[in-house]
Amino acid sequence: MRGWHPGLAYAELAALLPNSTLTQEGNDRWCRVADASPARRVEALKLASGLQCFLLDGVVQSTNNTTPEKWLERLHAYLKSHPVEGTVAVRSWKQGGKISGWSLSELSGRLGGILHDMGCVIDLTEPDHVLALIADGPSAALACGWMEGDGQAAFSNGERRAGERPYFKPVSLDPMLARLAVNLAAGPLGRGPVVDPMTGTGGFLIEASLSGRPVVGVDIHSEMVQGAQANLEWAHGGNAPSDAIVKRGDASRLEDVLPDGWHGKVAGFVLDPPYGRNSHGSVEADRLLESSLKSARTVACADAGFVLILPIHPLESHSTAALSLDHTFSLLNGTWPGVRGLIERCGWVPVSVHVERVHRSLSRLILHARRAAQG
Ligand SMILES: C[S@@+](CC[C@H](N)C(=O)[O-])C[C@H]1O[C@@H](n2cnc3c(N)ncnc32)[C@H](O)[C@@H]1O
Repeated sequence: MRGWHPGLAYAELAALLPNSTLTQEGNDRWCRVADASPARRVEALKLASGLQCFLLDGVVQSTNNTTPEKWLERLHAYLKSHPVEGTVAVRSWKQGGKISGWSLSELSGRLGGILHDMGCVIDLTEPDHVLALIADGPSAALACGWMEGDGQAAFSNGERRAGERPYFKPVSLDPMLARLAVNLAAGPLGRGPVVDPMTGTGGFLIEASLSGRPVVGVDIHSEMVQGAQANLEWAHGGNAPSDAIVKRGDASRLEDVLPDGWHGKVAGFVLDPPYGRNSHGSVEADRLLESSLKSARTVACADAGFVLILPIHPLESHSTAALSLDHTFSLLNGTWPGVRGLIERCGWVPVSVHVERVHRSLSRLILHARRAAQG
């Protein structure tokens, strides 16, 4: 997974592979995935913002309890039990610095030699199969295996950073976080449409539609609606897709705004309520959140999810791991126990909470919740 926020990347992957078992292994950027079909893996690679690649039956090994010779023997056995057809190449990279005493280029060369001796044809420019070798400096661990994906993270926000869109406001979310939140809230494709009840400049709306999800973005202010529409069209090269709609309306009355056929079908809500001087809330923050979550529940499918983003004061020690729901967070608006209670009262169950650092004096709380069963 990407280094940006491994905890969120892990949660995103778990949401995209709901029938798989994920177990962290080696360090916080690697996890072993059991029972993910090839089709689901391809979809996850296409949609996820935090995923770099899969290594098929990947070999994970701490360098503390082995030698390069023993490690190569283990890899030789792996390659014999996982033969491939076509041309091959070895690609290596490191995360977070070197592993002292271990040379990645030497190991890659030796692996290339083993593959050659096994009769494989090496093609460094357009190989059919890539053997990835990843070294994680801080944990002194190596991961190696045949790679699915390109190892770069298919998701790139380079071309559509918020500041480059036709309509920009300081509230605009970064595409990487927006994509992650959509995946976390809605899970794999095909579960149902996505709703962004307070779309602003359309950060979530754009990522949901680019990932092939039907989506409606709602905002109470017509300037935002026009701006989000312009951004949506721009993100699609000038033509807005037919299954992404921006509407003026009230997040507290989604049942009046959404197409009739969507009632009871919405799979995911992504909620970034107004705060600070740059957004204009229609009602006081807590009341707006409460009425929006109640309204969302009325149009949600049985196992719908939502992601809520709230500004908070930075934690004393920042962590990218999932945090306990009982952690003490200092919200900019209201209190964490108050918001948590409100979420539960509105018929939702908090699942996980993560914190992302924005700058020295501001962080964001990213809460993932599921619709509670009736009653
Ligand atoms: C923090 S901004 C959202 C920013 C957005 N995520 C983006 O990437 O630009 C909150 C938005 O909520 C909208 N809003 C406030 N009250 C609302 C309501 N009752 N219904 C719908 N939208 C509302 C504001 O107009 C504002 O655009």
